[in-house]
Amino acid sequence: MLFAGVDLGTSAVKLLLMDEKGKIHKIVSKEYPLFFPNPGWSEQKPEDWYAQTMAGLKELLEGSDKSELAGISFGGQMHGLVILDKDDNVIRPAILWNDGRTQEETDYLNNVIGKDKLSEYTANIAFAGFTAPKILWVRNKEPENFERIAKIMLPKDYLAYMLSGVHCTDVSDASGMLLFDVKNRCWSREMLEICHVREDQMAKIFESYEVVGTLKPEIAAELGVSDQVKVIAGAGDNAAAAVGTGTVGDGMCNISLGTSGTIFISSENFGVDKFNALHAFAHADGHYHLMGCMLSAASCNKWWMEDIIGTKDFAAEQAAIDKLGENHVFYLPYLMGERSPHNNPNARSTFIGMTMDTTRADMTQAVLEGVAFALRDSLEVAKALGIKIERTKICGGGAKSPLWRKIIANVLGLKVDMIESEEGPGYGGAILAAVGCGAFASVEEATAALVKIVDTLDPDPELTAKYDARYQQFREIYPTCKPLFDIITKA
Ligand code: XUL
Repeated sequence: MLFAGVDLGTSAVKLLLMDEKGKIHKIVSKEYPLFFPNPGWSEQKPEDWYAQTMAGLKELLEGSDKSELAGISFGGQMHGLVILDKDDNVIRPAILWNDGRTQEETDYLNNVIGKDKLSEYTANIAFAGFTAPKILWVRNKEPENFERIAKIMLPKDYLAYMLSGVHCTDVSDASGMLLFDVKNRCWSREMLEICHVREDQMAKIFESYEVVGTLKPEIAAELGVSDQVKVIAGAGDNAAAAVGTGTVGDGMCNISLGTSGTIFISSENFGVDKFNALHAFAHADGHYHLMGCMLSAASCNKWWMEDIIGTKDFAAEQAAIDKLGENHVFYLPYLMGERSPHNNPNARSTFIGMTMDTTRADMTQAVLEGVAFALRDSLEVAKALGIKIERTKICGGGAKSPLWRKIIANVLGLKVDMIESEEGPGYGGAILAAVGCGAFASVEEATAALVKIVDTLDPDPELTAKYDARYQQFREIYPTCKPLFDIITKA
């Protein structure tokens, strides 16, 4: 049997074909554009996602025995708002997870409805990137579009809808909408009312490993596969990546260094932190998780390398870095504002601390370290809750850099376990498909059989101490700059 995992990312859709032994047969990646129509806005066209996914699936299956394909599932960028009219036309481009336009609506939810109520109904408070404030934004700013909404869905669920015809979502992705009662794994009637949304506009909810349907006959014909191929609900990309790295059950940690940077802690029990600084979401393994999400992680490095210093040779730039723990330059990684833990769309990136002897390598190092320090901000919140973490898995494009992994291990003071396959969400999606098709009895059974740790990086106590001192300095920079960010982002 073969299973396809579709990772609907922000820069590209990455597709992976896996067999029931966990062996990866092929990986295909297809890019699509990202639009920034205003500063802090971020959009993509769902039609592009679909076209590239279909092109990717065709390429993925080329050369394989197509009759072996049993199921397709997903890991998808979370929180994006996709709206369809009664004839299934996409009403407007999707507003993405890293879009910061909804400050007014976020403030309304947090301050007028109130954080206590939001937390009671959904286990979370409002962040600009979450889906509910975006729905209110469309109602406020584009009322004619709001009136046309027949279906509300998340990015990967648009793919599942196009492939199967079922308007579905899964518990992990639904958690990031602020419309979902995470504890009880159902829509929150109160939140739907607050956002002026009817339940018939919302998707049917599934556990991430459940079958939502089969391929539409015309899609099966186009792909040259059976129309009995199952479509499995899948998960938000972080929960899918957690499955792909075996971060399931209780107290396990995964760090994802993709466009966003996340620290993900699995939990068998439902729990919320007092200030809702971390997201409390349902996990794809049937349980729960906490998560801190920074909006720009590997994207900071990509921006610095490609757009600013003008190189694609990341490894050569990193080879010049030789003073770990001793850099006088600091970098705040807030290119798209910041989510966890600051919840501030007006936050901006900055370098600070340069002197005449500062080198290009120091600046590059500061970018890598700034991302690690910002991840530690979320880890500190988890520690303050009494959660004890000693080790983490790591995945995402940034995790391919040995230097960055070393910086992460030492800034966070964690052992870092490397997995055989770094394809977090795509591999997780394929595993969820395998569970949905009955190849395994549960997600935990599947990850125990399929996910292999190949190496572990231990933090070095001397370097950890140096970084600890630098972190204490780093954490002073944001609060000091915050009033300035409000001034410089004023229209
Ligand atoms: C998580 C989040 C991001 C996106 C990236 O809350 O917003 O990690 O899912 O794809």
